Parts: sequence; C-alpha cells; structure tokens
Amino acid sequence: MTSEELVERAEAAAVNAYAPYSNYRVGASLLARDGRVFDGVNVENAAYPLGVCAERTAIAKAASEGVRPGEVEAIGITASPCGGCRQWLHEWRIGRVSFRRADGSIAEYGADELLPDTWDLPGS
Ligand code: THU
Repeated sequence: MTSEELVERAEAAAVNAYAPYSNYRVGASLLARDGRVFDGVNVENAAYPLGVCAERTAIAKAASEGVRPGEVEAIGITASPCGGCRQWLHEWRIGRVSFRRADGSIAEYGADELLPDTWDLPGS
C-alpha cells in the first residue's frame, strides 16, 4: 500500500475514535510485512493520562495477533505522531511512517528519522 492509501485508510478508521474529552479523532493504519493491516484509534479515559494514542492502539492490535518488531512495513497516521508514539515506532522498527500534514500534504519518513539519537535499553 502507498503512503497515501495508508493515510486515507487511517482517516476512515478515525471515525471510530473514542475521544469524548478532546473531540480530536486520530486514526492509524499499520501494514505488516505479511500483508495484514491493523487499524487503531485514540481511546481516551476520564482519568486523562490513561488515554491511548491511535498509533499505540494499532501496534497493540498487531502485537496481539503475533506481529513482532521488524515485521511492520509501514504505518499511516492522520496527523504527526507525538513524542511518546515516536518511541513506540522506533521500538517496532517500522520501515515507513507517513502522516497528513496540516497543509494537507503527506509526510513520509523512516521511523528513526523521527527520533534521532534514539534511546535503547542498554543490552537490548
Ligand atoms: N493523539 C494520538 O492519538 N496520537 C498522537 O500521536 C497525538 C495525540 C491523541 C491523544 C488524545 O486522545 C488526543 O489525540 C488529543 O491529544
């Protein structure tokens, strides 16, 4: 799938976001190397810090179905990923990260471009 297709799929998925507090709906569509696609949305909570971002939902869905770091070809997101999600994208060694910029264009990066000099657990 192209970056455009993944971002458009994420935009369609975002209608399922559970975002009653921010009213900001985010979607993320993850393409595994075996061809499976996992859609995620942000899921908020009345205890605000417990909310989960769309990217992490998509990764957690993929992990739950057996996908491992290095087995993800690409992810498309409705907007630029937050700092915490960039650490998740790094952990999962996602080859291509794309998202919709505020001006409507599609941004495309390698995961490590989004988080230079990345922190890794020593020995891992
Ligand atoms: N959000 C995401 O889902 N992904 C991001 O990368 C940035 C922020 C969500 C979290 C929260 O539900 C809402 O956007 C407002 O911060």
